Amino acid sequence: MRVLITGANGLLGQKLVELLFRCGNFELLLTARQEQSVFEEPMLKYRTMDIISKREVRGVIDEFEPEVIINAAAMTNVDLCETERAQAWQSNAAGVENLVYASKLVGAKFIQLSTDYVFDGKNGPYDEYERPNPINYYGKTKLAAENIVRSSGVPFAVVRTLFLYGAGVRSRANVALRILESLVAGQPYKVADDQFSNPTLVDDVAFGILKILEMNSTGIFHIGGPKWMSKAEFALRIAKAFDFDKKLILPTKTATLKQVAARPLRSGFITLKAETSLGLKTTSIEQGMLVLKSQIQHFKEEVENE
Ligand SMILES: NC(=O)c1ccc[n+]([C@@H]2O[C@H](COP(=O)([O-])OP(=O)(O)OC[C@H]3O[C@@H](n4cnc5c(N)ncnc54)[C@H](OP(=O)(O)O)[C@@H]3O)[C@@H](O)[C@H]2O)c1
Repeated sequence: MRVLITGANGLLGQKLVELLFRCGNFELLLTARQEQSVFEEPMLKYRTMDIISKREVRGVIDEFEPEVIINAAAMTNVDLCETERAQAWQSNAAGVENLVYASKLVGAKFIQLSTDYVFDGKNGPYDEYERPNPINYYGKTKLAAENIVRSSGVPFAVVRTLFLYGAGVRSRANVALRILESLVAGQPYKVADDQFSNPTLVDDVAFGILKILEMNSTGIFHIGGPKWMSKAEFALRIAKAFDFDKKLILPTKTATLKQVAARPLRSGFITLKAETSLGLKTTSIEQGMLVLKSQIQHFKEEVENE
């Protein structure tokens, strides 16, 4: 199966590439904005592609003729999306329109990554049938993208995920890595005790997408970790797993954090559909912390050997 992955240099993109490559059943084309792939494996073909550019998107997709396109590219900095709205719209919505259009021309299935931030966080955790109502600009762009995909006529899956943790090559810091950075420096870390979500090991999302590919599933899927908890609780779990002083974690109310974009408070997912229809079992926090440790160690060694 020929699969084109956008955002292949991002955190989830990297995990997807690793997993699909290991499976051996896929002919992959990796794409990202950078000149070079983060992967040095010569069998992993790479093309530079900014999804905002219609010309680049058409050129690459017409040439490779993928059977499936997985869009893991997005502007993911929620606060930046709030202030740089035009840029956020271009990457998260207009770019998806370009991809879906090209997808239609070559007859490819489309898999779009989305987020729990399409919900307002008033009464989570949410299942796939709940009505979205985003409260920040990032969430609005991601919901617009979902709607573009759903109304396109192209066979699709929308994979909503949330609160990812994991480490990759030069990947953007996620909450877990920021907490660890702070703990290593011996600095206190303020974290919301009133924002609820499911911390999710990024590799589990890649695995869910593999299942969708293998089973040729369509529709919306909520893929998230098995435990619903506050971000402060998650930070305490990290401190414990990595043997740091828990007192450095300062549980705080969202209102005092003064984050630029509004955050859904009672968010999170019910993941029953993914469990039953995809057979997906996600990683416990305890196990996830061990995986995170080994990923951090692996990439540290890679950087030291560069
Ligand atoms: N991380 C989370 O907690 C989380 C939660 C829910 C949903 N998601 C969704 O999961 C997907 C993957 O997220 P992630 O965590 O892997 O984020 P990430 O590490 O920030 O990766 C996103 C990648 O998209 C690329 N990108 C941005 N705009 C682009 C454009 N115009 N053309 C091509 N590439 C572009 C970025 O490249 P540059 O470095 O060039 O900007 C980056 O490498 C996204 O759709 C995100 O919305 C993530």
